[in-house]
Amino acid sequence: MRVDVDEEGRWAEAVAERFCARLRQRPRLRVCLPTGSTPRGLYAAIAERVAGGQASLAEAEVLLLDEFGGLAPGDPARCATMLARDLLDRLDTPPAAVHRLDPDADDLDAECARYHRVVADGGLDLCLLGIGANGHVGLNEPGSPANAPTRQVALAAATIGAASRYGDGHAAPTWGLTLGMAEILEAREVWLLVSGAHKAAVLAEALEGPVTAALPASLLRSHGRLRVLADEPAAEGLSASLRSRAGDDETVDGGPRHGG
Ligand code: GLP
Repeated sequence: MRVDVDEEGRWAEAVAERFCARLRQRPRLRVCLPTGSTPRGLYAAIAERVAGGQASLAEAEVLLLDEFGGLAPGDPARCATMLARDLLDRLDTPPAAVHRLDPDADDLDAECARYHRVVADGGLDLCLLGIGANGHVGLNEPGSPANAPTRQVALAAATIGAASRYGDGHAAPTWGLTLGMAEILEAREVWLLVSGAHKAAVLAEALEGPVTAALPASLLRSHGRLRVLADEPAAEGLSASLRSRAGDDETVDGGPRHGG
């Protein structure tokens, strides 16, 4: 695990630069992307770089991390709507190279099995994640073990409250579909994006508390290529020794997926 703390007040820009460097190393990057509030500035910074010709996702494949159920297609709280608005509509990625979980599928188990195959066929080079206030990643809520597959989930009360902020005031979603902890931990590289003082307590617990399914983000510590990218307010609760682990950049190639 590496913990990089941005101390210069340019967290989104710094993460965007790192992301674009990965794209230059591997133009055909297969990348899983989250939604929510955390990555919005990052996505704006990536889109600016793509518009400026400094980066391209024309050869990349984008896989959405999760999706809320029970909302109409195009609802502003749907993850697909958020990612289109914040990033995909401003990119050069062909629509056929964007993959999503479909919460409107008739058979949700079959839909999750289909998505598992899409992910497994080529794997994920990089999985970007946010962290929920209750320690969820994707919609892997507390109680999700490391081998939890891609599946339909009931949302925790805290997540329903948070999701209500994304919408336009109507009823918040109560369930969703998510990439499982199992598929997340199989990614070659995982970046946990954490921004804001309101995430400081859960980040400290995830990185320095017990590794437990009760806090799914803590399970990421078993991944050999986990990089935590935090801004200063989010890193406030971390011990000095953990922060000192920030180090030189790595490439996506080589090395174990697990065990660091
Ligand atoms: C949401 C999303 C996750 C997101 C997380 C944090 O429920 N399903 O993909 O990473 O919770 O959201 P935010 O960045 O808005 O705090």
